[in-house]
Amino acid sequence: MADPVRDQYEAYPYPSRDPKDEKRRLIEGSPSHILEINHYVFAGGRDFRAPFRALFAGGGTGDGLIMLAQQLADAGSPAELVHLDLSTASRRVAEARAAARNLDRIKFVTGSIEAIPTLDLGRFDYIDCCGVLHHLPDPQAGLRHLAAALAPGGGMGLMVYGALGRTGVYPMQSLIRAIAPADDAADRIAVARRLLRHLPSTNWLARNPAVGDHLNQGDAGLYDLLLHAQDRAYLVPALRDLLEGAGLALAGFVEPWRYRPESYVSDRLLQARFSALDPWGRAAAAEILAGNLKTHMFYAVPLARAGTCVADGSRPEAVPVLRGIDGPGFARQLKPGGTLTLKSDGLELRFPTPAGAGPILAEIDGRRSRAEIGERLRAAEPGRWQGARFDAAFEATSSFFTGLNRLFFGGLPGGS
Ligand SMILES: C[S@@+](CC[C@H](N)C(=O)[O-])C[C@H]1O[C@@H](n2cnc3c(N)ncnc32)[C@H](O)[C@@H]1O
Repeated sequence: MADPVRDQYEAYPYPSRDPKDEKRRLIEGSPSHILEINHYVFAGGRDFRAPFRALFAGGGTGDGLIMLAQQLADAGSPAELVHLDLSTASRRVAEARAAARNLDRIKFVTGSIEAIPTLDLGRFDYIDCCGVLHHLPDPQAGLRHLAAALAPGGGMGLMVYGALGRTGVYPMQSLIRAIAPADDAADRIAVARRLLRHLPSTNWLARNPAVGDHLNQGDAGLYDLLLHAQDRAYLVPALRDLLEGAGLALAGFVEPWRYRPESYVSDRLLQARFSALDPWGRAAAAEILAGNLKTHMFYAVPLARAGTCVADGSRPEAVPVLRGIDGPGFARQLKPGGTLTLKSDGLELRFPTPAGAGPILAEIDGRRSRAEIGERLRAAEPGRWQGARFDAAFEATSSFFTGLNRLFFGGLPGGS
């Protein structure tokens, strides 16, 4: 049967990757970074040296798969990973990337998410489905298949398109459909490129700083954004329905700060109104305020695990770990009373650096627990870090950097 989605990914595997590049860099992102998985799905307590099975549903050219497979290999995990995708061209790229890194614990399966009940893949401790559900004819049914494939105690990392952040995309998709017939991919790409050069500055796509795949991701990116045969986008309330319809609960958004209304509005009275909303209401408010959430990335677990799957950094034995930051080096750059500037998708915001963040970050090495960090700081400066003072500074620092997706709880073997 003709399947335009499969045809697209056979012709334009996405994202476009060259396996040779594996020799010089590892692409790291979200979801499915090992520290995120441990923090949001396994309460920071997973021992990855025990058996672990992960499925990459619609794994594409392998970004998430290769990242996690490498991180698990580095952690000495006997993990089994399964890459499932409709597209053989994408599979070949992912296979070559795995081979370039000698990652030999991956099974590649050509097939669809809809066929999971008949594929005999077994159950998975973790499932990644990034940028795929919104391309399914029935995303709700697809997510149910994935939820049914979870092992007890497991969870998922998901990404779907965000409706507001994609403002301008869908009108342009229908315009291109009207002037470039669906059966000639090369003509459609040429017409789309030509059109992009002639857009008036008031066009909503031209005005949308959050969306850039058509400008910086080659033909595969252009096709994925503007010529896709099937995609839809979600507002936060629709996301909630999607999860609930599959018996899942939200564990956490990536990056949390972007889903907090107070990140955007400093007025205390308005903040009080926002904090009276429930967690989904606050996330929905943040989406409207920001306007630039072009994707929603999040972790989800079966409803029965809601409330127990996210790491609790308030426990004395919790081990904070930094991602992409060298604690002592970063701490040296922080000025007491200074600010940190965050940039994302066209928005630039400044936040006050949490008091005490420098010394606390300097002590984080992925092995020391919260209690040990407190003891070391008190030994050096007893007056400054007594009891509640340390707790307040640690809470403020860990909440801020967890919000930025830079700090997690759960040390890994080897302290990585
Ligand atoms: C936008 S790409 C995302 C690839 C990868 N997950 C990533 O984030 O880099 C979407 C992938 O989903 C695959 N796909 C689409 N519909 C699918 C389905 N019903 N079952 C399995 N794979 C599917 C496509 O072939 C494509 O490789």
